[in-house]
Amino acid sequence: TKHFISLDPFSKEELLYLIQKGLAFKQANEWPQAYQHVFVANLFFENSTRTHKSFEIAERKMGMNVIPFEASTSSVQKGETLYDTVLTLSAIGADICVIRHYEEAFYKELLDSPSIQTHIINAGDGSGEHPSQSLLDIMTIYEEFGSFEGLHIAIVGDLRHSRVAKSNMKILHRLGARLYFSGPKEWFDDRFNDYGQYVDMDELVTFVDVMMMLRVQHERHENQEQFSKTQYHQQYGLTLIREQQMKDQAIILHPAPVNRDVELASDLVEAPRSRIVTQMSNGVFARMAILDTVMHYKEEA
Ligand code: CP
Repeated sequence: TKHFISLDPFSKEELLYLIQKGLAFKQANEWPQAYQHVFVANLFFENSTRTHKSFEIAERKMGMNVIPFEASTSSVQKGETLYDTVLTLSAIGADICVIRHYEEAFYKELLDSPSIQTHIINAGDGSGEHPSQSLLDIMTIYEEFGSFEGLHIAIVGDLRHSRVAKSNMKILHRLGARLYFSGPKEWFDDRFNDYGQYVDMDELVTFVDVMMMLRVQHERHENQEQFSKTQYHQQYGLTLIREQQMKDQAIILHPAPVNRDVELASDLVEAPRSRIVTQMSNGVFARMAILDTVMHYKEEA
């Protein structure tokens, strides 16, 4: 595809191909330096460590020219809009813009514009989608289990505000996994019913293969917090006691940053069954696969 906005347009076979591409980059000792003519700008209007820096490492591993862009020192501070910023970057020769923005579907006006030529990669749009996180998550699950068919996967926590949950539920469902949700009931709405069922945490931990915990998105909450950290951890979190009920081969995922001792016990972040560090490492290779995919579109067009 010319742009990478969501994993929705990718068929099951294409998703497996993307995973294989990411794993091939991971296994290789050297990476293609065929992109030395490519200029890429990373525009992050929301804070990020993993997504921003792993895109940057992926771009540099592939030999791309990374144009430094900081929203705080750009003309955005003079009131320039996202549209005009991307129009400018496209006009001066940015081939790719990787964008994270607090507005859901920020990319629509960019894709509709005949003047904007640059490839757009969605690095997270508000509470909408986080497709590069989703690719690294499915890559990590595939690396562990070799398939998705029949796997029992739980997505737990701040479902309503999480873009990771929205991207992953659609993709994991399409890949044949059985999905379950848990966390505060008020964050579970009808959208999730189409993909899986709500199960209480104490029951859930006993039978799932993958326990995907979500960050509580304090910055997207309009009201005062309904729970104290301790209350949340005891009621909905992966406590040390609950972890002991998990199946031997079951793994723990979390997109991070982790609120330690809230979504999961701090000691579980680096526990033997945790794949949280692997997720971060895989993020670089998943993003190399994404960059390679959009650049191939350009070459074939
Ligand atoms: N998982 C994730 O998107 O982390 P960052 O917000 O640090 O990029």
